[in-house]
Amino acid sequence: MNATAMSALGAAGPQALHIQQLWNVTLLICCIVFAGVLAALIWVLWKRPRVEASLPPDLDTRSAPERGPKRSVAAALTASVLGLVFLIVASFVTDRALARLSLKDALHVEVTANQWWWDVRYDDHQASRVFNTANELHVPVGRPVIVTLKSSDVIHSFWVPNLAGKKDLIPGRTATLQLQADRAGSYRGQCAEFCGFQHAFMAFRVVAEEPAAYEAWADKQRSTASEPTGNAQQRGRQLFMTGTCVMCHAIGGTVASARRGPDLTHVGSRETLAAGTLPNTETALVRWIRNPQEFKPGVNMPASNLSDEELAAIAAYLKSLS
Ligand code: CUA
Repeated sequence: MNATAMSALGAAGPQALHIQQLWNVTLLICCIVFAGVLAALIWVLWKRPRVEASLPPDLDTRSAPERGPKRSVAAALTASVLGLVFLIVASFVTDRALARLSLKDALHVEVTANQWWWDVRYDDHQASRVFNTANELHVPVGRPVIVTLKSSDVIHSFWVPNLAGKKDLIPGRTATLQLQADRAGSYRGQCAEFCGFQHAFMAFRVVAEEPAAYEAWADKQRSTASEPTGNAQQRGRQLFMTGTCVMCHAIGGTVASARRGPDLTHVGSRETLAAGTLPNTETALVRWIRNPQEFKPGVNMPASNLSDEELAAIAAYLKSLS
């Protein structure tokens, strides 16, 4: 999956496109104003009276009001007001367009922000088809998505500039954001509201894929975790289930069912670890589990006192959960 650079100027869906168009109009008007001001300044400097010793001192202009400058100021004022009114209308039109995305057959996803990771739940009419994942959303291309936004602690902000504008996640309140991806790709998202020490390391990914690929992914996510194969993986699962890991994490189909930290049922299939902080490799898993504070100081996950062999076994087990 090719990752697209995180950019509000690379719209990959209708919502982001509306915002990008508003930005283009705003930039154009500001450039015209800037060029106009510079031109006026250059013109004034060029036309200013040459100072000579014989010139009488300019003490008072009130007795003879200058009509030229008066007209210029009036014209500039009118142009400024017209420009600003135009931008108000443009942003109003954009807002209306954003609210008019067709939500027919929309996919419902609930995102809960935590310090500092994203809990993602895919809703369904049938309870057995609901599933959880973390820090990574998959969406089908061409289908609208209604993202319900919640927060468990402080105010965060959900922002995938390639797909939509920002929306805050406020504790005790529920907000929604509508987005749609029309181009397949992997789009980076980022928390856009300062939420504490690790705000900068609160990223996520939105993977937009063809409907069939999305359905295959969702079916896989609904399934329980795969059984470990080989000694290392089995030992890893045993360590996981009998250690402190189960107190915070869930793995579908096992006794681990805590919701304090990210759901790990299919953690091996994700692109990154710790909300975009590390690549999802066994080496990174070992380093992360050994001492998360090294990568995200202040994170709720404590350091472990497992041996290298035990860490490698847990990493092998988690990586096998694809
Ligand atoms: Cu969450 Cu900033």
